Amino acid sequence: MKYATLNNGIQMPMLGFGVYQLEDSAECISTIKLALAAGYRSIDTASIYRNEVPVGKALKESGIPRADIFLTTKVWNDAQKAGNEMAALDKSLAALDTEYVDLYLIHWPCKGHYQDSWLNMERIYKSGKARAVGVSNFHTHHLDDIKKTWSVVPAVNQFEMHPRLAQQPLIAYCKAQGIVPQSWGPLGGSKSGDFREGLLQNETLTTIAAKYNKTTAQIILRWNIELGVIAIPKSTNPTRIRENIDIFDFELTQDEVLAISALNKDERLGPDPDSYPFQ
Ligand code: A2P
Repeated sequence: MKYATLNNGIQMPMLGFGVYQLEDSAECISTIKLALAAGYRSIDTASIYRNEVPVGKALKESGIPRADIFLTTKVWNDAQKAGNEMAALDKSLAALDTEYVDLYLIHWPCKGHYQDSWLNMERIYKSGKARAVGVSNFHTHHLDDIKKTWSVVPAVNQFEMHPRLAQQPLIAYCKAQGIVPQSWGPLGGSKSGDFREGLLQNETLTTIAAKYNKTTAQIILRWNIELGVIAIPKSTNPTRIRENIDIFDFELTQDEVLAISALNKDERLGPDPDSYPFQ
């Protein structure tokens, strides 16, 4: 495992396990246990995923000390608009059955609210209930807005990123500010109509995969690592869960990293954070 050092000095695994859409409680628990057994030590959930209770149960049942796990959750838009992020975190902590989270993120920037929300996230950070605080789905202009009043720089910005949306300007901006970039949807999505299938068969990726005797999914995840981007792929399949973490025994060349980044088409799976419908 490689680790990112966040801007407050804490270490975060460069590869984590995403649990979006793992809503069935029994499946969520068994899948997280598989992931932990495969070596994952970072779990990424959100209050809107409605699985914080099974996430907490899986962590307890695994017997792994809490201090060895990096746990992320996110504040949903309703709490952001009401300005009660702290109460939302308390609810998440109760559901997760833990005293603290390692990272608490603003899930989406709600127009007219995210600036004040960041100030509440700073209060949360100072309370010690989150070892780090950050944002998700923030464009550079959202970061510029909160920068006007921040006294704590977000530790992480989690946003959609994969070879079809390589996000180079946003990654560069985050790094310049000391914000660690993190990707969601790194493999191109899970719904029919998403472009995972086409992406995983892309010739640039299959050629590189053959060279290293890896799968194209592993090449994409390793591309994240080479770029300093934390990835949190989700899988319910035991073989793919193990496959996705088996990316720390090879390195891509600079030319290969550039070739993958050149697959960018600025194509999104999810909504644009400037115009998403659920704010
Ligand atoms: P599954 O759970 O059947 O493995 P993302 O993290 O980009 O949202 O992607 C999640 C989707 O990608 C899920 O549908 C998951 O399906 C699939 N997936 C995860 N790992 C792999 C892999 N190594 N190869 C192909 N598909 C994968």
